[in-house]
This record gives sequence, C-alpha cells and structure tokens, in this order.
Amino acid sequence: MRSWKIQRAPQIRAEITVPGDKSISHRAVILASLSNGTCVIRGFLPSEDCICTMNAMRAMGVEIENPEPTTVIVHGTKGKLRPPQGDIDCGNSGTAMRLLSGVLAAQPFRSRLIGDASLSSRPMKRVIDPLTQMGAKLHAEGPKSSPPLVIEGGELKPIHYHSPVASAQVKSAILLAGLFTEGKTSVTEPTQSRNHTERMLNWFQIHPEIDGNTVSVTGRVLPESRDFLVPGDISSAAFWLVAAAAQPGSHLLIKNVGLNPTRTGILDVLLRMGAQVREIVENEEGEPYGTIEIKGNTLRGTEIRGAEIPNVIDEIPILAVAAALAEGTTVIADAHELRVKETDRIAAVATNLRAMGAKVIETEDGMEIHGGVPLKGATLQSFGDHRIAMAFAIAGLFAEGETIIDGVECVATSYPSFHDTLELVTRKRQVQTPVVDTLPAE
Ligand code: S3P
Repeated sequence: MRSWKIQRAPQIRAEITVPGDKSISHRAVILASLSNGTCVIRGFLPSEDCICTMNAMRAMGVEIENPEPTTVIVHGTKGKLRPPQGDIDCGNSGTAMRLLSGVLAAQPFRSRLIGDASLSSRPMKRVIDPLTQMGAKLHAEGPKSSPPLVIEGGELKPIHYHSPVASAQVKSAILLAGLFTEGKTSVTEPTQSRNHTERMLNWFQIHPEIDGNTVSVTGRVLPESRDFLVPGDISSAAFWLVAAAAQPGSHLLIKNVGLNPTRTGILDVLLRMGAQVREIVENEEGEPYGTIEIKGNTLRGTEIRGAEIPNVIDEIPILAVAAALAEGTTVIADAHELRVKETDRIAAVATNLRAMGAKVIETEDGMEIHGGVPLKGATLQSFGDHRIAMAFAIAGLFAEGETIIDGVECVATSYPSFHDTLELVTRKRQVQTPVVDTLPAE
C-alpha cells in the first residue's frame, strides 16, 4: 500500500493546468468508436478509468492508436462491434460500466462486464431497469443487482424513461442504446445532471432533442467522425480551487479547464463561501473551456442542497474540507447518491474530518459541518476512493503537524499526476509561472 505524507503548506501562488476531463474522455472514445471514420481525440485523460473504456472498445474490434498518452486516434466502426473474447474489465469505473451497458444492450452478442471490489458493490439496477424496458436481456450476478453484469444484446424498442435519480450515467446508457434503436428514445431526469453526452452527440452531428430535463435521440443513427478536444477536468481542478480559496493571500490560475455550466457548481459554492472567483470562457464549441482565477479568503459556511447537488456531486468531499476550514456551519443535504460512489463518501468524509478534529454530524443524505476548529494532522484512509485521498491531501495542507494518507494508488483512476502538482503548488518543485493579477485586490 502506498501512502503520502503531507505537511502544512504556505499560500499558493501558481498557474497550472489539470489533466483531461474523465467524463468527456470516456464518451469521446465510445462515440468515436461508433462513428463512420477516424477521430483524433486530444487532451484525453490517460487514467485507469478511461483506459478501461479504451480497452473495452478495442476488445470489441475497434482499432485505437495511442501515439502519446493524451492523444487517441480512433478508427470508427460504423456502429459494428465484434463480440469480445472474455470479460470486459471496467476496473473501478462506474461510468465505463454503465455507459458500456447501454451500447452492449443493443449488440447482437453476449458480453459480461466485471469490475474491482469497489465497482462490484455498486448498484446496476439503475441501468438494468430502463434497458430491460427497452427489451434488453441483462442481469447482475452480484447481490442487490451489483456486478458482474451479463448482457445478451439484441434488438431494442424505444421508451420514454422517467429516471428516479439525476444520473448522467443512467441518462447516457439509455441514449447510447437509443442510437441503435428505431424510433425516439427519451429520458427525463428529476434534476439536470451533467450534459456531456448531449453535447458530444451534437458535436458528432446527432442532434438530440432537449426539452427541460428531457433528452431524446431518434435512432438508428451513426456519429459523424470528427476530431475532439477534451478540456481539463474541473473535478480535478476542484482540489486546487479549495486549496487556494481557503487560504487568505493565495492566488491561483487554472488554464484550459472545462467550464460546462452543468459542472461549475463548485465555483458558485466557493463564491458564496467568500472566495474571489473569476471564470473566463475562451471556447464555446463542443465543450466550453477557459480559465478560472481564484483568490483565497477566510471562508464562511453555506448550504449545498437540491438541484445544485448533481452539479457538485464529485466535488462534495473537497467542499466538505472547505467547510471544515470555514467559519460557521455548512449543511450538505439531498446527496444520498454519495453513499453509492466509489465508497460511501458521506461516511468516509465524516470519519476523516473527525480524525482531524473537525465537528461533523452525519445525516442520511449529507452532513452538517461546524467549521473553524483548527485541523490537526492524522493518519487517514483513502477507503480506496481517489477523491477521498485527494480531498484529504488538501486538508493536510491546512493541518497542524503531519497528515498521512494511506492507500493512494486509487488516485491513478482519475488523476495520476496529482502528487506532482501538489509538489508544484506547494513549492517543493520550482517550476512556477508568475501569476498575473486580473482580479481586483482585496
Ligand atoms: C459521471 C456521472 C456522475 C459522476 C461520475 C461521472 C459521468 O455519476 O459522479 O463521477 O461521467 O456520467 P452519476 O451519473 O451516477 O451521478
């Protein structure tokens, strides 16, 4: 097991970039594989999760070149996939398993999707139900509809599915199945989740209909091959945003980062908490991206609930760290989904924050954090969850004494270079660009 030792760090003054967006990288490889020609994907995230999706598509006969880690050249198969030899290993990735289940439900062959211990305990009923309504034959072999997932693919019929959860993975599985299905397939979700699939379908010239929280595709259609640029992942940027926001005097610029409005909720939350934040959109085509500038402050507590939750769902562990560093109380509610992520993130965050001396009350669908109590170093577990490991590495930058994070291998699923950037922003590595002020001085 690998561990990190983290020491308290001074203010951050840096200009950085973050690796490619995980959600977008998965989708780019899948849609390019189904397209009618060659697509060059630049800015691809070469992390374990996205490599699982790339290898899954290769296992189904798609020729994919990977001349450098962030460049992937996909030779589309016009929607024709080959039966995989053996199981498809989705590793730790719920996105890989759920999105691929949508594609596989419509193929004229049998497949079996497996995952690691964490993924093997995650719920798949949320994709089994709608795909079964479409006529697919699939079942979970694990307890409580958990993986492995066995899919006997075939002809599907269109449905209008009202999803009980706001989940981009569920929505995307249905839309991907809908591409292979004659007629109009629709999904309505209770609140809007990230819309990368819809945007990417548009980019590949399949124009989904969007009406409020309902998205529809009319099949059978093939994506038109086009190159795609994956922007930096705002969920990876989130760790540095909080590291800077919670330290008065810190000043950080993050360049080329995704600014899709269904993902930028963290900026609104940090603004409410008292940080100075500026978002400069530099590109609107495909996926919006640009620069985020942030200046630190003494933060104050806030409420995070309701329709805002899907927009910040992956950022809640690091926002909980921000809350512990803020004055006053922060309430996080309506976030029951956190209990079924890579680990139970409500329990993991509460355990680790308490070990550092913070006051946290765990609730069924969130937590209440009474901030402003100085954090102290402790030995913490990652619980095998990349975002828990990274969130508490940032907490360690603010703690008195040394913080040890055990089990940091999991960070490779989404952000293999996290620790290098940690050393860079905390000035253990002297490769910094001077920061040019564009936000007004406090
Ligand atoms: C993702 C959607 C979210 C998110 C996950 C990535 C995606 O999950 O938590 O990290 O790429 O579609 P849900 O769709 O289950 O909310």
